[in-house]
Amino acid sequence: MNAVFRARWTRSFSTSRSRSNRAVVYTQNGNPAEVLSAMTFPKLDPPRPSTVNVKFLLSPINPADINVVEGVYPAKPQPVQGIWSEDVYIGGNEGLAIVTAIGEGVDSVKPRDWVILTKAQAGTWTAVKNISAEEIVKIPNPEGLSEVHGATMTVNPPTAYNMLNEFVGLKPGDWVIQNGANSAVGQAAIQIAAAQGLKTINFVRNRDDIVDLVQRLEALGANKVFTYDDLKDREFRKKISILTGNMEIRLGLNCVGGPETTQMTKLLGNDAHLVSYGAMSKQPLSFPTSLFIFKNLTAHGFWQHGWYQRRSHLDRENLMRKLVDLTLQGKLKEPEHEIVTVPAYESDEEATMRIRNIFKTAQSYGKKILLKLECSS
Ligand SMILES: NC(=O)c1ccc[n+]([C@@H]2O[C@H](COP(=O)([O-])OP(=O)(O)OC[C@H]3O[C@@H](n4cnc5c(N)ncnc54)[C@H](OP(=O)(O)O)[C@@H]3O)[C@@H](O)[C@H]2O)c1
Repeated sequence: MNAVFRARWTRSFSTSRSRSNRAVVYTQNGNPAEVLSAMTFPKLDPPRPSTVNVKFLLSPINPADINVVEGVYPAKPQPVQGIWSEDVYIGGNEGLAIVTAIGEGVDSVKPRDWVILTKAQAGTWTAVKNISAEEIVKIPNPEGLSEVHGATMTVNPPTAYNMLNEFVGLKPGDWVIQNGANSAVGQAAIQIAAAQGLKTINFVRNRDDIVDLVQRLEALGANKVFTYDDLKDREFRKKISILTGNMEIRLGLNCVGGPETTQMTKLLGNDAHLVSYGAMSKQPLSFPTSLFIFKNLTAHGFWQHGWYQRRSHLDRENLMRKLVDLTLQGKLKEPEHEIVTVPAYESDEEATMRIRNIFKTAQSYGKKILLKLECSS
């Protein structure tokens, strides 16, 4: 954050008004550990007609959010309107909020309803927000859902659900293969697949506590977990044939890219589909041409954001209802996570250090980090 801007801003709000609400903001793209700042802003006015005021309960930090701050993600946020003269962006795309006040003419939600935002890149790393009633959706049957469930329902479980259901007509007993299996999407894919009677073969990076990770993924319903190192074994394909009873695997989900994904793709059977949704290794994908010629491989990309743009509000609500039902049935658990609370009593400088530290220390994103920005009003 530009020092002149910070000083000007601090004069205009922090000293003249009591500390009220806080957001995690940036004015220029770059490394989140360097460009993000915690900024207090004035108390919200009562909502105008057709708008609502919400308070965020939890807001995840997803890998794509980091790319947005870096300026390398295709969906771009709009600067905050009406508070600052400089273009200021609030980070975050996903989060659970509770309605605190409704404006005239709003009948879709009422105070205390749990809601999520439908507009992409709306800026969810904030304690409170005023937003158009058209840009929120109420979470159905929130009783029985945790705040973590609600806060992580918009991006990862829908992605997993759609990839499992929109590309190949699978039936119970069919196999699905995936990498990045311990990612939040991977964990959701394991559980949704299991709920649909599908079996999963899962790949993760090797690590010191691999036995523990394998057990955790198996507890979610993973049929088998391997590491990318296993793919180097010449006999590995035979092992997979024995595991599946020679059934052809027709769907692969790719979170990672790079040479390990090429190796994993070779395990797919005839007429299979490989669906790529992430590129965590930052390595390009390449396939032997023979997979296309002799096995009729189809390789797709999937973007949940595009799905939301193409589909109706009703489709979105129906999908959320399915995911809520799975959660209430105990079939879709919270992703592994850690909650980072930013206490209201901290100064913006202290809060900024706390936020930046998250990005400095994160070696792996296997555990989802959720922000809780406490507000004093
Ligand atoms: N296309 C879509 O609509 C869509 C929707 C949701 C998410 N995504 C993408 O899906 C990916 C996962 O998202 P998420 O929220 O589930 O992430 P997450 O929970 O933060 O997990 C990140 C995963 O990436 C793995 N990883 C990190 N660096 C890696 C590397 N260099 N090589 C191999 N694996 C690496 C981690 O494994 P370790 O534990 O080994 O570090 C972990 O499994 C991200 O790329 C995200 O942008 C796409």
